[in-house]
Parts: sequence; C-alpha cells; structure tokens
Amino acid sequence: MSSLESLAQPLTLRCGVVIKNRIGKSAMSEALATPDNRPTALLTNLYSAWAKGGTGLVITGNIMVDRLALGEPGNVAIEDERDLAMLSQWARAGAQEGTQIWVQLNHPGKQSPKMVSKQPVAPSAIPLQKRFESFFNAPRELTESDIEDIIQRFATAAAVVKKAGFTGVQIHGAHGYLVSQFLSPHHNQRKDKWGGSLENRARFVMEIYKAIREQVSDQFPVSIKLNSADFQRGGFTEEESMQVVEMLDQAGMDLIEISGGNYESPEMTGKNVKASTKAREAYFMEYAEKIRSRVKTSLMVTGGFRTAQGMMEALESGATDIVGLGRPLALEPDLSARILSGTAKSSPVKPKITGIKTVDDMAMMETVWYARQLERIAKGKQPKIDESPFLVFFRQLLMSGFKGFKTQRVRAN
Ligand SMILES: Cc1cc2nc3c(=O)[nH]c(=O)nc-3n(C[C@H](O)[C@H](O)[C@H](O)COP(=O)(O)O)c2cc1C
Repeated sequence: MSSLESLAQPLTLRCGVVIKNRIGKSAMSEALATPDNRPTALLTNLYSAWAKGGTGLVITGNIMVDRLALGEPGNVAIEDERDLAMLSQWARAGAQEGTQIWVQLNHPGKQSPKMVSKQPVAPSAIPLQKRFESFFNAPRELTESDIEDIIQRFATAAAVVKKAGFTGVQIHGAHGYLVSQFLSPHHNQRKDKWGGSLENRARFVMEIYKAIREQVSDQFPVSIKLNSADFQRGGFTEEESMQVVEMLDQAGMDLIEISGGNYESPEMTGKNVKASTKAREAYFMEYAEKIRSRVKTSLMVTGGFRTAQGMMEALESGATDIVGLGRPLALEPDLSARILSGTAKSSPVKPKITGIKTVDDMAMMETVWYARQLERIAKGKQPKIDESPFLVFFRQLLMSGFKGFKTQRVRAN
C-alpha cells in the first residue's frame, strides 16, 4: 500500500545537499524578463509562491547563457554579474521554507525563433523540418572557438548563479536545444572531435559539466535534464541516452532529470506517447526502471504525473528518487503542500487544444497556455483553469511578436 511518507522523505544528494521532500518542480520558461533579458520582480513573486507551496526542489525556467541566442523573447540571460542584485532577490524568494532553488541554464541552438534570431547556430547547418520554416531560420554551423565560448558561458553563468544565492544549477540537455542537438546523430553531423561517435557527440555536455564544476565546487548541486530519447528517426536513441547517463554519473552529476522529445517530436508534453505508457501516468518511467540499476546518481522523472497515487507508486518502485511536476504546479503552485498533507489527491491538468492543426501538432499551446498562468501567478492573480486556449494563443502571439520587436530594438540601440 502506498503512503504519503514516500513523498515526504528528504533526499540527500551525493554532494551532501538535502532536498526536504521528493517533489520537484521542473523548469518552465516564464518569459517574464525585460526586453534586454534582465530578471524582474515578477519572477521574485512567482518563485515566492512556489517556495511557499511545499515543493522540495524548484528548478527555474531556462535561463540563457547568451543574450543573442534566446529560446523566446522575455528569457532571462546571464552573461556576467550585471543583474546580481535582482538575481539575489529572486534566489532569496525561491529559497524560503528551506526550498532548494536551482537555475536551469540553456542555449537554444537552432531552436531560436526568427523574431529573436536572424542566424541561429547548431552543431551542423541542418535546419528544422520544413513545417518549422516560417518560425525558425536555418542555422549556421558552430566553429570550434564558438563551441569553446559557449562552454565557458555555461560556467560563467553557473558562477553568477551561485554567487546570487541559488542553491544549485541544471544544464538543459533535453528537448532539442543545443546540448541535445550535439547528442543527436541527426542534428550533429560534424566530422571533428565534437561529432561522430557517441563519445564525441557527448563531449560538449561533458565539457560543460566539467567547466561548471570547476566554478562551483563539489558541494554545490549540479544537475542535467536529459532526453531518454529524441523519438526521431536517426536521432539520439534510448541506449545512447543510457550510456550518456552512465558517463555523467561517473563524472559526478548530482541529479539527472529524465524527459524526452524536441520541437519536432514533442514527447515531453505527452504528445505521441503510447496509451499503455499514459496509463502508467508518467511518460518516462520505463526508461527510469531500466537505468536505475546502471547508475548511482539521484534520478528525477518528469512528465505526466497527475495523481498522488501515481507519484507514490513511482517513488516506491525505486525507479526514481524525485517526481517532477511541470504543468500541475503552473495551475496550483501550492499543490505539493496539499498533496503532502493529504488534502489533494490529483491535479486538474488537461491537454490544451486550440483546434488549429499546426499549433496543436507542435504542442505549442501547452507552453503558451501554461506560461500565461505563470504570468497570472506572478501578478498576484489566480491561475484561470478554464481560460480559452484559442484566445490565449492569439494573445501570446501578439505579445511575443511585440516582445520580440522590443528585444530587437534594444539590441539595435
Ligand atoms: C510553460 C512551459 C514552459 C516550459 N519550459 C521548460 C524549460 O524552460 N525547460 C525545460 O527543461 N522544460 C520546460 N518545459 C517542460 C516541463 O519542464 C516538463 O518537462 C513538461 O511540462 C512535462 O511535465 P508535466 O507533464 O508535469 O507538465 C516547459 C513546460 C511548460 C508547460
């Protein structure tokens, strides 16, 4: 019989840091920064709500390591200490109630939309599928010195994050962004030491990990979010992913979060996930069961958890150490506390559909609709569970076009 105790138990990471319970908030991009990518008080408000909501580990939405390479307008970027004061305020808000507050660091590579990137970069000059042509420009291939520069950018950002008072960092190695592009034999067709064999394709992430570790010491949690697979023909496979998890484990990674998919195949949102898998609630549990016996590092599985029962069963199976929640905590920032006290049994999260095929196929609506709820929480309002996906989509389209324009203007000045 499952019990709430499994969710309430603290977890000690290999670096010695203790997470107060087994519920983790996975990264959700907030798009709440200024047009020149500086953090705002809205972020402080939002993370204060999550810290007070009982979740043990809260991971921020992706923060970019290069202001000129954004995943979307409104991303925070960290290149140096210019925003240390505001970052510290954000970290303090997020660390209330003994919450672990970690920053997710990212470089989007080719998944940087036209409104913010005329010329995105990637391991190889391979564009996204044709249906993405109107949203993304074709990338240029990174040079060796660009690659070295990006690795250092991750390390610099991690040092700033630590100085600001965040309690850990996470490398975004999933969902088709730059690290995940390097790992994929489809997106990475380089002939140098950064492409080819799995060892070469994994060199980029291993170097980022080493560079970050040099900056933050062995006592500071360093994590990665990694795809269990890309679910694409010629992409990063499940067995390759497991081998990379082993490499990261041996290198000393403190926590590995398992997800899957990318913009072209958005499994992370539950899209295309088999009915038999969905019946088990979490999308990537089978993978976790297989990898658990191969590595020592702590694991977090994210995607699909909706009931207290499902979360407890996942923990009690021993396949994962933390259950990761995204959308449920965008609708109810205090859901963890209510689950832990036994007053909530499940999340009301349902798929969001606009009825526009292209939009629904790309699972774009999921991010857009939930980002809108994050904005409401940040402004002190209640999330709106029945807000029309269609209206939210058009509102966000206008807003992000406007924000993209402002970002371009700020850059030009
Ligand atoms: C609004 C929104 C923004 C997201 N941004 C990120 C992000 O910045 N980094 C990331 O790794 N995943 C991101 N994700 C994916 C979530 O972390 C998570 O993997 C996914 O939503 C599946 O978990 P869930 O079923 O509990 O929502 C985002 C998801 C949503 C809904």
